[in-house]
Amino acid sequence: MMIQKSSPADFPSSFLQSFEGNNTSVPIWLMRQAGRYLPEYRALKKKYSFLKMLKTPEIAAEITCQPLQRFPLDAAILFQDILTLPLAMGFKIDFVSGTGPVVRNPLRDGDAIKKMHKFDDLSHVTKTIQLIRNQIPKTPLVGFAGSPFTTLVYLIEGGPTKNFSRVFRWMVESPKSFHQVSDLLAHETIRYLNLQKDAGIHVFQLFDTWGGVVSPQLYSEFVLPYVQKIFKAVKLPSIYFLKNSAPFLSRIKQCGADFLSLCHSVDIGSDAILRKIKLGVQGNLWNVALFSDEKTLGHEIDTLLQKAKRYPRYIFNLSHGLLPDTPLERVAFLVNRVHAFPWNK
Ligand code: CP3
Repeated sequence: MMIQKSSPADFPSSFLQSFEGNNTSVPIWLMRQAGRYLPEYRALKKKYSFLKMLKTPEIAAEITCQPLQRFPLDAAILFQDILTLPLAMGFKIDFVSGTGPVVRNPLRDGDAIKKMHKFDDLSHVTKTIQLIRNQIPKTPLVGFAGSPFTTLVYLIEGGPTKNFSRVFRWMVESPKSFHQVSDLLAHETIRYLNLQKDAGIHVFQLFDTWGGVVSPQLYSEFVLPYVQKIFKAVKLPSIYFLKNSAPFLSRIKQCGADFLSLCHSVDIGSDAILRKIKLGVQGNLWNVALFSDEKTLGHEIDTLLQKAKRYPRYIFNLSHGLLPDTPLERVAFLVNRVHAFPWNK
């Protein structure tokens, strides 16, 4: 399995090798590596709205490549959003500065599902991926989508939420239609990821930022089955990111991805469940650690890498995305420190 799922890349890459466990240095990329902590991103943001940036392939490709020009990262991540897919399925979404995404026509009942349609035009994503591959032909490209549950949180609540009450009520009061809409989204997500695959991504990550807010029972019933469906259907090396991963480890090990991207809620050095699983491990450095001084940060990085040595396959990343005011010099320090770590196992 693993890397053989896709056609092998015709360039050497520790990131792609790590899927087979034969890398000789630790690969590193960072969630939200393209974004607001970069002055060159903020300069573009002054000129264009977020939606304009997502929908214009030349701009989205430029943003994807920006962090690679500054830091020797081992992979690029496509610049899009998890809401790119619902935008193409009939949802009207504004990205409001300081608030986040706001859905103008949220899903509020089973009837609203009938108004959802299959995604129509995502050719701007195809074009963006082709441009990126031409601009950085020797850098592996990570594509992505949101998990059906995480995407539904935005579509049902209408935007960021603190208590998830509308989602919870729908799940428990009308489980049948919740399953129906989750299945529809899973289906479209598979089509969308296959579109990204055909355009040239090497690996994909499924972002499940909110899958970990529900109880373990609800996770098994409403979140995991659709995640599994996607990993089973899309034949590419894959990573599953779940925020608040610790309480769900025994469940997510069945997700079907090649790697689990774990947030800082897990101690990868001592967790008994992780010790037994065969999946690769990604991430785990608390994104807030980048605000500490170099000595403290260096210690945190080395400690994590020592723990990671017990796993046959490990990719360095953070607990969650880079925070907007992260100091640039700490990102440079982090990437160099990870690359300097001896990985001769
Ligand atoms: O570098 C990368 O990681 C690729 C780009 C990327 C974005 N969004 C760009 C973005 C990725 C992978 C995402 C995923 C995403 N989007 C998730 C899952 C991962 C996570 O961070 O939890 C979620 C939940 C969203 C939805 C979303 N989009 C929110 C909640 C927000 C507002 C909050 C925030 O962090 O800004 C967005 C907007 C967004 N998506 C921005 C970027 C760069 C900020 C837009 C701006 O410049 O104002």
